[in-house]
Amino acid sequence: MYQYHCLNPIAEVGLKNFDGNYAKTDNIANADAVLVRSATMHDMELPESVCVIGRAGAGVNNIPLGKCSEQGIAVFNTPGANANGVKEMVLAGLLLASRDIIGGHYWVRSERQNEELEQLAEKQKKAFAGNEIMGRKLGVIGLGAIGILVANAAAALGMEVYGYDPYISVNAAWKLSRDVKHITDVKDIYRECDYITLHVPLMDSTKGMIDSSALAEMKSSAVLLNFARGPLVDSKALVEALRTNRIRKYVTDFPTADIASMKNAIVFPHLGASTEESEDNCAIMAVQEIKDYLENGNIHNSVNYPNCDMGVCKYAMRVTIIHRNIPNMLTKFAAAFGDLGINIERMSNVTKGEYGYVIIDLANKADDTLIDTIREIKGVLKVRVMK
Ligand code: MLT
Repeated sequence: MYQYHCLNPIAEVGLKNFDGNYAKTDNIANADAVLVRSATMHDMELPESVCVIGRAGAGVNNIPLGKCSEQGIAVFNTPGANANGVKEMVLAGLLLASRDIIGGHYWVRSERQNEELEQLAEKQKKAFAGNEIMGRKLGVIGLGAIGILVANAAAALGMEVYGYDPYISVNAAWKLSRDVKHITDVKDIYRECDYITLHVPLMDSTKGMIDSSALAEMKSSAVLLNFARGPLVDSKALVEALRTNRIRKYVTDFPTADIASMKNAIVFPHLGASTEESEDNCAIMAVQEIKDYLENGNIHNSVNYPNCDMGVCKYAMRVTIIHRNIPNMLTKFAAAFGDLGINIERMSNVTKGEYGYVIIDLANKADDTLIDTIREIKGVLKVRVMK
């Protein structure tokens, strides 16, 4: 029986896929799996029992990845599961930044008691006029699941779309509309585009990437959209850019007091993936990844360990080992089984950066002593046994 703990509410449509072999626990100390949305885990003690964390969403900046990797905890996210929800918010952001729809709405509200509202509206409407987005240049920085959907949708709306992503995957490139122009120098996006939208993860290398020098390159009519993560933009530089009309507008899903006070900022309370569909999709995907990992040891969409899939074990026992990516590990594992006459039927070993992962299917069951011997091999971080 596996136990799972939810640090945030997770959609029931996903949780119901945990069958009779799973029980929900309120105590993380008993959990094999943890599901999380936005709860910050950086200061949490992660108990020995936890093997896997499923983030129902894309960003993993609330999870201490280094600590998890060292403790042998696989962290999964759900790339793409909420991408459409975020894409739709970005499209809304493009339109709200282009025409003063919000100002117009509040003006009508404020005049609702005025008997001449209808005539007054015709006179007042010029105060809320704007521009269309068709034909304007949109720069999409980051062409992952969300960036691609945004780029393709904007191209379909008649925008001239420029895409920048030095790390784009082949799969992602296949999905990109051929109307999207490939940009190799991000500065071309800063200089040329009327709208710039960020779709990169928050990492040390991307934190503050939109700083005063990036803002200085942009057109004074540029609109910057950030539905990825707040700290990608240096907030001091941004406030100054808005105050001096260095750029036209900032649209973001990440509220902070300083930015929310700027009149040319449009700020939402992290609504990107707050749709029924996105929450359901993320929960379903996270639960599926957790189950496949706990039951079969298969890894899909892990952000700290390599992907590895050996299907379902057809032999006597499956052993999975998370280990450091250093020489001689496989020789030691094979020797440990071989010395006791246990034949390895199938094996897959993959690495990602500092870590390696091996799935081994055995012809005979290995006893606890042998598994403990493997646990003690220098460089081994976690060993799990499953049938
Ligand atoms: C994501 O990272 O998936 C989105 O920002 C939405 C969320 O945080 O759940």
